[in-house]
Amino acid sequence: MADSRAKWNEKYRLRTGEPSEPDPFLVEALPWLRPGSVLDLACGDGRNSLFLAERGFSVTGIDIADVGLARLRRTAQNRDLAITTQQADLEAPDLILDYHPFDNVITFNYRPSAHLLASIHTLVKVGGTFLFCTFNQKNRDTFNPAFSLKPGAYSEGLEHFELTHFAEPPLDGKCRDGYVFRKM
Ligand SMILES: C[S@@+](CC[C@H](N)C(=O)[O-])C[C@H]1O[C@@H](n2cnc3c(N)ncnc32)[C@H](O)[C@@H]1O
Repeated sequence: MADSRAKWNEKYRLRTGEPSEPDPFLVEALPWLRPGSVLDLACGDGRNSLFLAERGFSVTGIDIADVGLARLRRTAQNRDLAITTQQADLEAPDLILDYHPFDNVITFNYRPSAHLLASIHTLVKVGGTFLFCTFNQKNRDTFNPAFSLKPGAYSEGLEHFELTHFAEPPLDGKCRDGYVFRKM
């Protein structure tokens, strides 16, 4: 979506300094990640990708905003970390992410489309982890419901996954749902 790309590129263009600290829910859920590879969907300028690469994970980050990805690559280079990036529209109806499965897939503060959610299992190895945390519809006044989850929407789990952990980690006073799934 050209609009999203332009909007987010502008935000990243205005950002200065290093990407912020990792998401607290990622830090909390770290023990559920399998050692090995991580695919960070809608990685932005990479605060979570960088945190995981520093802990020995082999990280690939995808985002629509090439300016954010460029910031991620610059920081990775400064910290001597190898992170692979790809610019892609995760909402494209014909999206095919042609990757071998990863040990872990994560996505933070981005609501994947139904189409993407339905194919995420192909991106995760059996026994691997899918970590998913974003804003929910309790933020009625400030958030477009199209970008937010019904509270607990995935408590029954996604097909191919079992739910191993659920939390409601707030961020900046806003309500979020956080899920840790294991691929069966
Ligand atoms: C709130 S930011 C979250 C970034 C990162 N996950 C984090 O937690 O720091 C949302 C991200 O989603 C990306 N995004 C929005 N629409 C997208 C799309 N259709 N395809 C890929 N990325 C998209 C934006 O460029 C932005 O980097």
